[in-house]
Amino acid sequence: MKSLIDIIDLTPQEIDQMIETACDIIDNPKKYSEKCKGKKLATLFFEPSTRTRLSFEAAMYELGGNVIGFSEANSSSAAKGESVADTAKTISCYADIIAMRHPKEGAPFVASKNASIPVINAGDGGHNHPTQTLADLLTIYREKGGFNNLTIGFCGDLKFGRTVHSLINAMARYSGIKVVLISPEELKVPSYVKKNVLKANDIPYIQTTNLEEVMPQLDVLYMTRVQRERFFNEEDYLRLKDSYILDLPKLANAKEDLCIMHPLPRVNEISVAVDDDPRACYFKQVLNGKYMRMALILKLLEEAEK
Ligand code: NCD
Repeated sequence: MKSLIDIIDLTPQEIDQMIETACDIIDNPKKYSEKCKGKKLATLFFEPSTRTRLSFEAAMYELGGNVIGFSEANSSSAAKGESVADTAKTISCYADIIAMRHPKEGAPFVASKNASIPVINAGDGGHNHPTQTLADLLTIYREKGGFNNLTIGFCGDLKFGRTVHSLINAMARYSGIKVVLISPEELKVPSYVKKNVLKANDIPYIQTTNLEEVMPQLDVLYMTRVQRERFFNEEDYLRLKDSYILDLPKLANAKEDLCIMHPLPRVNEISVAVDDDPRACYFKQVLNGKYMRMALILKLLEEAEK
């Protein structure tokens, strides 16, 4: 049973095919409006979400399917102490595919080992978020025309930001990629990401605390929120939360075709004045996420039927 737990569960060729499907959905939405008729997606969200859950739900409805699920851990049997494994076995009796978000790293993986239907990781703790990466990849593809020879800057909370870890993993498979890691000392990318992904794939990278200094090199700038819910104390969060605020003066030396991304929710990291700049792509990313989730649901359901 094919599930999506980590972005590298998909080959670059599979990602290309999904991008092709997503672009076809954009051009011919009617063609897909009944593809999942009679199918059910279960959204099991043990952690808050606006975009990811609603994007999955909208994706399934636009494919003609139905959705069941919950959006808070305390409204599920997890509150009574049920294990993720048992929840996964139970939901397999009701639905055709699961999208699961969980505060514990590895929970969707455990679910995938126990479910008899495909499981999609919709974010596990500070670890991975592969479907956000699919949204990011479609955005980069549509803005830049491809994935090779790009310098991509990641800025903000690179330690706890799971979207960053997944996107670095995905980009490390293309050629001519350079990575610029911009964060406060305390929020640097975990060493396992540097060792297992960047160094292992010979990706040149630099680490800096200064966004303006590196701005002119960047083709893509991926801003992130400081992940308050993963901090051990509020004092550190308050000290670090406004480390980087992207505003128009900071973009003075940026490339004219820079692609500014953010997985959202934004707290303070990008001034609203930037929203009207043609380089701002973060709301396009939201829409792209729905199309890639449609392509993913189609792919996994098709494979499950084989
Ligand atoms: C991200 C997440 O949940 O990791 N949000 C999202 O799914 N678009 C980023 C975040 O919460 O900061």
